[in-house]
Amino acid sequence: MSLASFSPFVSSLLERMAGKKRVSYFYDDELGNYHYGYGHPMKPHRVRMAHKLIVTYGLYKKLECFSPRMVTQSDLLQFHSDDYVNFLRMTTPDNMHEYLQQLQRFNVGEDCPLFDGLYEYCKIYTSGSIGGAARLNQNKSDVVINWSGGLHHAKKSEASGFCYVNDCVLGILELLKKHQRVLYIDIDIHHGDGVEEAFYTTDRVMTCSFHKFGDYFPGTGAVSDVGYGKGKYASVNFPLKDGMDDEAFVNIFRPVISSIMENYQPGAICLQCGADSLAGDRLGVFNLSLRGHGDCVKFVKSFGVPVLCIGGGGYTIRNVSRCWAYETSVMLDTDVQDELPFNEYFEYYGPDYRLHIQPSNMENFNSHKYLEDTKFEILEYLKRVEKPSAQIQTGQPGTTQTPKSIPVGEPREARPDERVSREELDARIEHPLEY
Ligand code: FE2
Repeated sequence: MSLASFSPFVSSLLERMAGKKRVSYFYDDELGNYHYGYGHPMKPHRVRMAHKLIVTYGLYKKLECFSPRMVTQSDLLQFHSDDYVNFLRMTTPDNMHEYLQQLQRFNVGEDCPLFDGLYEYCKIYTSGSIGGAARLNQNKSDVVINWSGGLHHAKKSEASGFCYVNDCVLGILELLKKHQRVLYIDIDIHHGDGVEEAFYTTDRVMTCSFHKFGDYFPGTGAVSDVGYGKGKYASVNFPLKDGMDDEAFVNIFRPVISSIMENYQPGAICLQCGADSLAGDRLGVFNLSLRGHGDCVKFVKSFGVPVLCIGGGGYTIRNVSRCWAYETSVMLDTDVQDELPFNEYFEYYGPDYRLHIQPSNMENFNSHKYLEDTKFEILEYLKRVEKPSAQIQTGQPGTTQTPKSIPVGEPREARPDERVSREELDARIEHPLEY
């Protein structure tokens, strides 16, 4: 008898008992229409390419698909300043000459250009992260995926590194309404500086970033940056050199994350899956395959803690979509064939038309000794994290434990994120024979 023979409730229960996760997927097709400008490496279109793979592999049949309810200005103000959000809302390429001073002050111009629909774009990618976190808080899903999110460089009052609104911070703030401790993990090749900075002085969020360090954007994230005040030892940084390969990455990621899970015991995890750490990235200098990158996802999922899984960087877009489609399959515990299914962006994947990518023969400049020494130093720091006696649930009257420095409001009401039916999704995808 197959699971399909049972009611949805019993199927869901049986799947959970069998270790299967309830995986929700937040996607807004509009996002792929936004454009940073000619020649800019950040291309929102990559999220639509990933979506087409997720659909044509049939993975969406196992996902609960949602079109997120659009966040409002007040949602963005939970982290960002009024003047910055007003600037993002009001400024357009047509009137930017009236805002020259603010453009400079908010770092909008070159890396972070002002393009048509910028504010709507920010709201769309943030909606999936906040809505996803709210869904986890309601215990309706074990994993929520928002590949359009992960814009980890944005600061309270400043755009940075192609990021304007920091959906990672806003998603974590939502998770903090329910969970006493939230872990943020970042496998983008760039340091997760915006998230680290937001939570540097609190122990309610531990940030852990694995990144290229040394003469590389944004320049922060030394191993000795461990947090400050109450947040001391709640920031973890693994600085790396060029050429990280699968084996080396797995050998540092698994022990560091195991130690964090044991010592910090988070109630929820936000996992930023920036794909610019893959081999052959236009801006990246690592040498990971999809399997190495995806092993981080597999390992994080294995702890059975709610996961908000978001995107991030990634500039060789045919590999970004491969990576996020593969990692969706990992979250679903579903094998997918290496031969890519036909879809409307099929020509991007030539000449091999395969899912998996081959690492290059570049040298790994991270010696075994360097990696072991750095890992040892981090594991020593983690021993100093005060072990919690029990997971405290917050968000209920009388149990909220929020330091004043973190703007956490009341738990969000059940949100009317729009459920997208399979029929609707099928209808959005052109049949191969139409080509
Ligand atoms: Fe990045």
